[in-house]
Amino acid sequence: MSRFARPEVQRLHAYEEEAGGGLNLMANTNLFGANPAIEAALVRMKGGRFSEYPSLTSVVLRNALGKKLDVDPACVVTGNGSNDLIDVLCRTFLSPGDRVAYHWPCFSMIPVFLRLNHGVPASVPLGPDWSLDPDALIAADGKVTFVVRPNNPTGNAFPRRDVERIVEESRGLVVVDEAYVEFLGGESFVTEVREGRDNLVVLRTFSKAHGMAGLRVGYSVSHPSLAEEMTKVRGPFRLDTLAETAATIALADDRYLEGVVEGVRAERPNLKRLLEEKGFTVFRSDANFLLAKPPVDPKRLAAALAGQGVHVRDFAGDLAPYVRITVGPPSATARLRVALDEALPKLMGGS
Ligand SMILES: Cc1ncc(COP(=O)(O)O)c(C=O)c1O
Repeated sequence: MSRFARPEVQRLHAYEEEAGGGLNLMANTNLFGANPAIEAALVRMKGGRFSEYPSLTSVVLRNALGKKLDVDPACVVTGNGSNDLIDVLCRTFLSPGDRVAYHWPCFSMIPVFLRLNHGVPASVPLGPDWSLDPDALIAADGKVTFVVRPNNPTGNAFPRRDVERIVEESRGLVVVDEAYVEFLGGESFVTEVREGRDNLVVLRTFSKAHGMAGLRVGYSVSHPSLAEEMTKVRGPFRLDTLAETAATIALADDRYLEGVVEGVRAERPNLKRLLEEKGFTVFRSDANFLLAKPPVDPKRLAAALAGQGVHVRDFAGDLAPYVRITVGPPSATARLRVALDEALPKLMGGS
């Protein structure tokens, strides 16, 4: 710790590197094989002009996204992952002391970025079944309100009508984080942007269903007036040339994406069944992961599985009773089964 750092930075914990190697079921990434767009981009870029800067605002990708989503490219802002755009949103729209409303649990970086940007957190707890109280979130009256749909880490998608009401009735800006929306079907809030809503920002990412977490490509879709302000703040060159090319190629062919979404939807019930057989309580999921309460201490379970090369996410604080596990292909479920068969009897026996 350094006394030179801002107090809110001193209070933060440094990131810990997540497990490398083995089977990573921690990060809700895509376990269905590499997106062929990445290889295609590497081939296309071979001998490419990497000595030059990329475009300032990812103009090629923004045009492709505009076409794909049927919005003006002026509605689209790209970022170095959607994480980056959460920071950009806070830096663009918050003045010191502004309230930021969000439901809890939600994506853990939201409270981190809002605090770093001098926002005041107004968190609204979800119900025991992870349901959202839209009236409470509206009443929290954020300058900015975040809704994650489907939600991470709980997995459920809040009813569309409830989120529509939050957008319609909030006085401030509403951000709908749709990092996992592909797994929900074609049900995005981009529709509302297309209809001209000027207090809504939709966040999307290539890190999950598109299988490109390592390339760091996120984007927002909003009214051009919001996008214009965010673009001033985001800074130039947030996407590198290779990442922009790969994401643009990925948009041209839906087959990979459709295969991944089908794969997750097919395997999710099998993973749920396995966990229930083993005594876990499993929550409903509309995403590519399951939140579950194991029959043994979650930290010890995660450590025992990690010892066998299978990494699941455990939590601290009010989420400590749970683990979160990514849905992969059947081979991932099978490997988890073997690891659970080994770990659980020992943990239950207390040995
Ligand atoms: C809800 C949600 N939003 C945003 C992100 C950030 O993703 P990325 O920065 O890789 O686009 C994540 C990552 O786990 C997430 O779960």
